Amino acid sequence: MDPLQWAIDPWGKIVPIHIAWFLIWVAAIAGLLFVIVHAIYVRYFAKPRQFERDVAPVAPAQIPEHVPRHSLAARAFHWIMAASMFTLLFTAFLPKVGFPFDWVTYHWIAGAVLTISILFHIVHASFFLDFWSIWPDKTDVRDASRRVLRFMGKSAPPPVRFAKYPLENKLYHGAIIAAGLSAIITGAFMMSRVRTIFFPRNPYLFSDMTWGMMYVLHGLAGVGLIALIMVHVYFGIRPEKRPITKSMIFGWMSRDFYLEEHDPQRWTIKTPAASPGTARARGED
Ligand code: HEM
Repeated sequence: MDPLQWAIDPWGKIVPIHIAWFLIWVAAIAGLLFVIVHAIYVRYFAKPRQFERDVAPVAPAQIPEHVPRHSLAARAFHWIMAASMFTLLFTAFLPKVGFPFDWVTYHWIAGAVLTISILFHIVHASFFLDFWSIWPDKTDVRDASRRVLRFMGKSAPPPVRFAKYPLENKLYHGAIIAAGLSAIITGAFMMSRVRTIFFPRNPYLFSDMTWGMMYVLHGLAGVGLIALIMVHVYFGIRPEKRPITKSMIFGWMSRDFYLEEHDPQRWTIKTPAASPGTARARGED
């Protein structure tokens, strides 16, 4: 089973042209297996989570009832990106699995929307949000090893509670960056193979070999996104994660959930009681 499709170029050279479309099913089944195994693990085997006790506990009254988590701009970005991602996935893959339609125009329009929204997100996150909140820090690495040791039944102190984002979310964000940017950069070049409003059509921009590899990378990133998005949606609807999903709709999470899951030292919320000199206002990232 060759994962790529090949053709012979005008000079008789064998070049890749696409991924083989059975990889769509491989990705969908991998995503489904992850979901099933995880759901069974959580339901029947996982022990209740334990966190290290706070060195300097925060009085609940110091935390607002509604803890701001995502600004309106960040939420608008998330849902525009989600809509364009789903449009890209459905327009790309439905025709390949037996529902043919004229998909290319819808696809590049959704691709352009995704590209613009990601450009906005890069500027927004770099200059207006807390850029480092989504990258693993030293505490995440230390706690990851504590969690692995405890999972294997060895003795290790419990991890501390999370900063704004748990390590899993940070790693997921990294995987989405790799797959998303691969699809976007190759997709932007591939637009010159079809007629769009952006630039004149020029299918001779690259050699057949380079085009072939570009289509392969685009396809691999695309099928990777099938599995990644299935997993993302699964976590979004799991009961214990619903407060996080709700915060992506309404912008805030409850004080109880914040104090249960997050470490106020690692994700500081501006409180009326805190002095302006010491509090880092990082609520609305
Ligand atoms: C979720 C993200 C995406 C997925 C799953 C996806 C998937 C695909 C797939 C499977 C193909 C067919 C490739 C082939 O025939 O080998 C394709 C073609 C194409 N994609 Fe995407 N893509 C995504 C994002 C993008 C983006 C962001 C752009 C533009 C910036 C884009 C532009 C294009 C274009 C122009 C084609 C048509 C090429 C042609 O027919 O010659 N795609 N895409």
